[in-house]
Amino acid sequence: MRRVCTLLSFMMLVGPALGRDAIEVTVDTAHPGTKLDRHVFGQFAEDLGTGLYGGIWVGRDSAIPNTRGIRNDVVAALRELHVPDVRWPGGCYADEYHWQDGVGPASKRRPQPNFNWGGVIESNEFGTDEFMDFVDQVGSEAYISVNVGSGTVQEAADWLQYMTADAATGWGKERAANGHAAPYKVAMLGLGNESWDCGGHMSAAEYGFELKRFAKFVHNWNKQQPMQKIAVGPGGEKTEYTEMVMKTWKENADWDWNIDGMSLHSYTVGHWPPSWPATDFAESDYARVLKETLKMDPLIESHSAIMDRYDPQKKISLVVDEWGAWYAPTKGSTPGFLQQQNSQRDAVLAALNLNIFSRHADRVRHTNIAQMVNVLQAMILTDGPRMTLTPTYHVFRMYVPFQDAAILPVSFSAGTYRVGEFELPRIDVIAAKTAQGKIAIAITNVDAGRPATVEVELKELSSGRAEGETLAAPKVDSINTFDNPKAVAPKAVTAAIRKGRLTLTVPPASVTVVTTQ
Ligand code: AHR
Repeated sequence: MRRVCTLLSFMMLVGPALGRDAIEVTVDTAHPGTKLDRHVFGQFAEDLGTGLYGGIWVGRDSAIPNTRGIRNDVVAALRELHVPDVRWPGGCYADEYHWQDGVGPASKRRPQPNFNWGGVIESNEFGTDEFMDFVDQVGSEAYISVNVGSGTVQEAADWLQYMTADAATGWGKERAANGHAAPYKVAMLGLGNESWDCGGHMSAAEYGFELKRFAKFVHNWNKQQPMQKIAVGPGGEKTEYTEMVMKTWKENADWDWNIDGMSLHSYTVGHWPPSWPATDFAESDYARVLKETLKMDPLIESHSAIMDRYDPQKKISLVVDEWGAWYAPTKGSTPGFLQQQNSQRDAVLAALNLNIFSRHADRVRHTNIAQMVNVLQAMILTDGPRMTLTPTYHVFRMYVPFQDAAILPVSFSAGTYRVGEFELPRIDVIAAKTAQGKIAIAITNVDAGRPATVEVELKELSSGRAEGETLAAPKVDSINTFDNPKAVAPKAVTAAIRKGRLTLTVPPASVTVVTTQ
């Protein structure tokens, strides 16, 4: 059976194994659809573990090469990802963060305990000005989460004035005195974080009260940069926050206060506390985790359906600003630092989620994987002066052509991959017309046991070639280490297009992205 696939329909396409037969994929190049917003590829850098201190910030006097205290190797690697935005300072940490502790000369910085993450003392050497410098060095945009849980509306409003107002205002003057005369740009503002949990254990109604006050009084002063406001939304399947935020917006929002997005947090974790191993796992564990991650699709469907009732024109984005795999911590790592390794399984997991987001591009216009460096499903791991890129990093780099590309209709039969009790779609494919007018195709072979030959019909293209990379690994639990940083690394691939067809054989458990030339 041939059909236009969604991930849900993949799950139902149980057919005979295709054996050596090619899997046919049709890409309708003539009908580019919704834009896949580049902000779907956003990142998250919380003050947690070594995500900032050690991973990004080493200080001006460090022997590790740095620019104004920010490590050069990490910045250079991140620039390759075209990171659209970085969410900071949390996470749970945001609701205990008081920004005035982290501005001004070193002598004025106030160290504070990080109650959420290991109880360690944060020096606050890395504060607002350092974060803005980091975002600038990476070539990204700032997504700031303000403290709703233990802060005040006034504190948040003052922070925005510090960041975005000119030097004629009180806090703008303070920023200028700290060496930054020009106002910064804040592209997105998170109005709290997980207010149903670490952000204050608020009922939906209690948060609704705070939402209106923060949305109304926390102003962006920099007119050169429109700022989106993002309300706290649901975590997982619970819908109370979804209903309340959308209802509050529908009934109350006007020129006086408004929001542009509502967050959704959903980790691939299985159960709590996280206990699935990040390394040394069997193929059945690979399948179990991927099966779990595919729940992102029905989760988005269910929250989107509620949003559609209040907002059929899809004005409010669903912002999945925390997602990714959350495993048992690395043995011997500091409790609360959320350190975990990153394997080929995570590369496949990242690709499947990015594909899900692309299929909901009309509502999901922004996401942030958790997290950027050294924490959870990171792009980069560091150890003192050493740095390694994770398999997830490679997927984000390979997917760069999809940033702001127009999604193309794709049809194919996914087939089935079975391991023990687990049954998954064998392959997944997305395609898009890039900002440069090329056709980008991403093929994920979920099947860890079989390569897949994929024959892509590119309507309206007769001949030419497509170039790109394949990310595969010797085993599903292969990882990159500081001693062997290229165990999982992409390899170049080229495919000829003849009579409008492109054929590629992709390895088991792999991710491939090619772009027409
Ligand atoms: O990303 C780690 C934590 O997970 C965040 O701080 C919190 O928002 C979520 O529970």
